[in-house]
Amino acid sequence: MRTILLPLLLLAGVEADAGVVLPMPASPLYRSECGSCHTAYAPGFLPARSWKKLMAELDHHFGEEASLKDAERDLLSSQLQALALDTPNANPVIAARNGGAWAATTPLRLSTSPFFHYLHDEVPDSIWRRPKIASKANCGACHRQADTGRYPEAEINIPQ
Ligand code: HEC
Ligand code: HEC
Repeated sequence: MRTILLPLLLLAGVEADAGVVLPMPASPLYRSECGSCHTAYAPGFLPARSWKKLMAELDHHFGEEASLKDAERDLLSSQLQALALDTPNANPVIAARNGGAWAATTPLRLSTSPFFHYLHDEVPDSIWRRPKIASKANCGACHRQADTGRYPEAEINIPQ
C-alpha cells in the first residue's frame, strides 16, 4: 500500500513517515458532542460551506436528532469552518484532491470524497462489511487516534 501513498506524500512535501495529522477544533465540546455517535471527524476533510450546512441541520442529521444549544452550535460551527478544506489551514494534498471535484457542491460526507476513495481503494468490500467496521464513516475503527485528527499509517489497526 505504501506504493500508492508515497507519491502523494512526496507531493505534499512531507516526510512519508509523518502521515496525515489534521488540526481539530479547540473546544472540548467537539469531541464530547460530535464524537459520541461516531468519530469526531477532522474539519480539514470538508469545505467550510459543508460544515455550515451540517451544523444548521442538526435536528435532522443522517436520520438522527443531534441538536445543540445555540451557543454551543455556533461555537463549534465557527471552529469547524476555520479549519476546513478551503482555508489556509488545510492540508494541501487533501485540498487538491477534493477541492476541484467538489467546487460546485456542498458534500455532507467525507467518506464519499475523491480523496477518501483514492486512499482506500485497496481496502476490499469484505473488510468494510466486518461488523466492527460496518460503515466507511467509522474512521476510528481503523484509525484508532482519529478523534484527535491523527491518521498516520503506523497507527492503523484494522479490526477482525
Ligand atoms: C477499514 C479500516 C479503515 C477505515 C474504516 C478508514 N480507513 Fe483510512 N485508511 C485505511 C487504510 C488501510 C489506509 C491506507 C494506508 C496505506 O496505504 O498506507 C488508510 C489511509 C488513510 C489516510 C492516509 C493516512 C496517511 O497518513 O497517509 C487518511 C487521511 C485516511 N485513511 C482517512 C480516513 C477517514 C477520514 C476515514 C473515515 C471517514 C477513514 N480513513 C476510514 C483504513 C481505514
Ligand atoms: C445522535 C447521534 C449523532 C450525533 C450526536 C452526531 N452525529 Fe454525525 N452522524 C450520525 C449518523 C448516524 C451518521 C451517519 C453515519 C454513517 O453513515 O455511518 C452521521 C454522519 C456524520 C457525518 C458524515 C460522515 C461521513 O463521512 O459519511 C458528519 C460529517 C457528521 N456526522 C458530523 C457531525 C457533527 C459535526 C456532529 C456534532 C454537531 C455530529 N455529527 C453529531 C449521528 C450523529
